[in-house]
Amino acid sequence: MMYRLLFTQVLRRFDAEAVHHATVRALALLSTLPLLKRLLHRALAPSDPALRVTAFGVHFPGPLGLAAGFDKDAACAEALAAFGFGHVEVGTITAHAQPGNPRPRLFRDLKQRAIINRMGFNNAGAQAAARRLRRTRGVPVVVGVNIGKTKVVPEAEAVADYVTSAKELAPLADYLVVNVSSPNTPGLRNLQAVELLRPLLAAVKEVADSTPRRTPLLVKIAPDLADDDVDAVADLALELGLDGIIATNTTIRHSGETGGLSGRPLKARSLEVLRRLRARVGDRLTLVSVGGVEDVDDVWERLLAGATLVQGYTGMIYGGPLWAARIHRQLSRRLRRHATTVPELIGRTAGG
Ligand SMILES: Cc1cc2nc3c(=O)[nH]c(=O)nc-3n(C[C@H](O)[C@H](O)[C@H](O)COP(=O)(O)O)c2cc1C
Repeated sequence: MMYRLLFTQVLRRFDAEAVHHATVRALALLSTLPLLKRLLHRALAPSDPALRVTAFGVHFPGPLGLAAGFDKDAACAEALAAFGFGHVEVGTITAHAQPGNPRPRLFRDLKQRAIINRMGFNNAGAQAAARRLRRTRGVPVVVGVNIGKTKVVPEAEAVADYVTSAKELAPLADYLVVNVSSPNTPGLRNLQAVELLRPLLAAVKEVADSTPRRTPLLVKIAPDLADDDVDAVADLALELGLDGIIATNTTIRHSGETGGLSGRPLKARSLEVLRRLRARVGDRLTLVSVGGVEDVDDVWERLLAGATLVQGYTGMIYGGPLWAARIHRQLSRRLRRHATTVPELIGRTAGG
């Protein structure tokens, strides 16, 4: 209520990216204040054992995490965990620092509760992110690291570019994600074609497998893949022994500004891709569902459809800073009413 007022009366009048950077700066500052951070964490982080879920050997306090693209430089993951996210996926991080596309590159569509962005992987590069991730943590936080291709690197050298990031970041990640699905780096999504994706994932997997704990590896896909291509990526992930698939990134199927669309209009396709993946792989891979998740009903539906973890980004922009904490609290109540737990819920309506 308070946030809705703040959003409709104040925040929407400011440039979307300026609000974003101010928020990240405030959260980064909070990350340096141990007492406040711990107090918030105690009040807002999921603590109900029924919410806990284990995926690829990693323990998550709750199923709802923050999707990639918000904390691009791994600046404020702890503060985000203190606000109730069960995990934070940082990035996309590229091997080399890069400025991203010219501004404006981030647009709100209030009516549709959506965002269009063409940020273009603006980030300070893998080494800078690694330095941040090495800092000791004051509150527990599960951190996924999402890596992508540096824009100026040609497609023929993409594998080496991803491997550079993986070497730097896999040892510091609770899980690693190969992002081949953002629409704002020219040619990136071509890497989803199996013949290009196989050598890329195989090379990154070798690096992920060589860390002391063996870092789990996932691939993040676009909602605009044809259904047969979704199946092909799923089969490839199984063949290579990946740990999971994150579905989906933003869509380019819209008539607004150039860029990827996220939020409510993405919900139906994201759910459809999840169902298709589940039908294909059953529980042999961890499925992470993202796209148009707005409330506890959406999280519930994704879990039933076979997602082990759920992520959101746009839902938080419209729902406010307490969004994740609120959904976890509501989920906890609903689980109690149904006398069940998150792990028991996963895939219940998926059949097969
Ligand atoms: C402003 C913005 C920036 C994003 N940047 C990235 C990114 O760098 N890497 C990535 O894998 N996904 C990125 N995404 C996509 C989200 O992680 C997510 O897949 C997508 O927004 C769908 O989820 P949502 O509907 O909950 O926002 C970005 C999304 C937004 C809105």
